[in-house]
Amino acid sequence: MNIALIILAAGKGTRMQSELPKVLHKVAGAPMLIHAMRAGRALEPKRTIIVAGHGFEAVSATARAEDPEVEIVRQETQLGTGHAVDQARAALDDFDGTVIVLYGDCPLIQPRTLEELTATLSTAAVSVLGFEAENPARYGRLITDGDRLKRIVEFKDATPAERAVRLCNSGVMAASAELLFDLLSEIDANNASGELYLTDVIGKAVGRGLSCTAIRCAERETLGVNSRVELMQAEKEFQTLRRAEALEDGISMPAPETVHFSYDTVIGRDAIIEQNVVFGPGVTVESGAQIRAFSHLEGAHVARGCVVGPYARLRPGAELAEDVKIGNFVEIKASTLDEGAKVNHLSYIGDAHIGARANIGAGTITCNYDGVMKHRTSIGEAAFIGSNTMLVAPITVGQDAMTASGSVITRDVPAGDLAIARSKQDNKAGFSVKLMNKLRALKAAKQN
Ligand code: UD1
Ligand code: MG
Repeated sequence: MNIALIILAAGKGTRMQSELPKVLHKVAGAPMLIHAMRAGRALEPKRTIIVAGHGFEAVSATARAEDPEVEIVRQETQLGTGHAVDQARAALDDFDGTVIVLYGDCPLIQPRTLEELTATLSTAAVSVLGFEAENPARYGRLITDGDRLKRIVEFKDATPAERAVRLCNSGVMAASAELLFDLLSEIDANNASGELYLTDVIGKAVGRGLSCTAIRCAERETLGVNSRVELMQAEKEFQTLRRAEALEDGISMPAPETVHFSYDTVIGRDAIIEQNVVFGPGVTVESGAQIRAFSHLEGAHVARGCVVGPYARLRPGAELAEDVKIGNFVEIKASTLDEGAKVNHLSYIGDAHIGARANIGAGTITCNYDGVMKHRTSIGEAAFIGSNTMLVAPITVGQDAMTASGSVITRDVPAGDLAIARSKQDNKAGFSVKLMNKLRALKAAKQN
């Protein structure tokens, strides 16, 4: 099937009380618009048109970053959802196929549901996605007669009997491009809002003797976000769904309700994700790796056999090869750690390459920033970095080399060498006892 998506994203979202356009508010780390685009992409559309208006530049930039092929049309003034879809008319002039309309503020819609909806077009001229609402509130009502959809009536325009209908309009609609734009040219703004309603195309189609249909999906899928409270509900729903999916996929989570996923988190089978782990965008955890409690990961890749945390932080560009160990209060940024490397306690590793089986002692810091520029640190295979070593970058420590604890390393360490960069120790015989006695005597004299 030849599919074009039209995603409506021009509305202001007044009730969000925000400078940010509504569709750019995030759920699971991604703007709601991206969620809609991703759900639609599962249908392999030939064309994707975003209707933007409020915050046009920001909305366009976000959409293009996700999909450079996306086409953006401008809706100068927001005259209603029908008017919004109509803005894509010129762009789709040469398009012959099915149009699916999605809303940019509806982030939980599932690809499978969209597939079911398009399948109904084999028998219906226009198909609409509906849901049985717990509390239908201000949603548009689907007026049906058996399997047939007769019309959609907006809450403001509905009679008390129509308002009692619980089958509601999600806003998702599918029809052939030719028919949809043809029907749209017939609608008017003769309604309670004075807007051009997309929903009116159903009545127009039925008036022509065409058959329309509605399929039903779970209410949570169609949650349309209009306020911060609804944004929070969408986040909660997303997390609930994603956790259930992760468990089904064979991931162990002793307390799934405390794990926070991103829209794009990828986790392999038999991975263990402990309590209170947070995944920012761009994380892959391979099979069997273990992420221990209270760790925060973002833009990181964790290979098989790794153990991360508890209390670890992996920042963008952290690349952990197999069997790497990252311990408590360790931060890794833009660094590659080869197989079996260990950074077990209280360290900062940034802009570095750590060779296989190297051991980084507690409290080690790559001093990567000189206040203006960032510099790289390279640690060779099986090197041993003593506790509390400061590695002043740019710096290279060779294979099998060692640094003594407490060293400030400012020159490269050749392979196999030991670098000691700290002042020599001097033991004063009996001096501790002598000094303490003197201080105690001084204190006693003061008190008398
Ligand atoms: C719409 C539906 C309603 C449905 C509900 C589901 C209509 C007339 N009503 O109502 O039947 O139950 O969604 O959530 O379609 N937008 C534009 N340009 C406009 C107007 C809207 O791009 O001129 C976009 C908005 O940014 C938003 C979407 O269309 O992404 C829906 O608009 P909104 O104003 O939220 O419609 P509802 O009143 O919720
Ligand atoms: Mg809405």
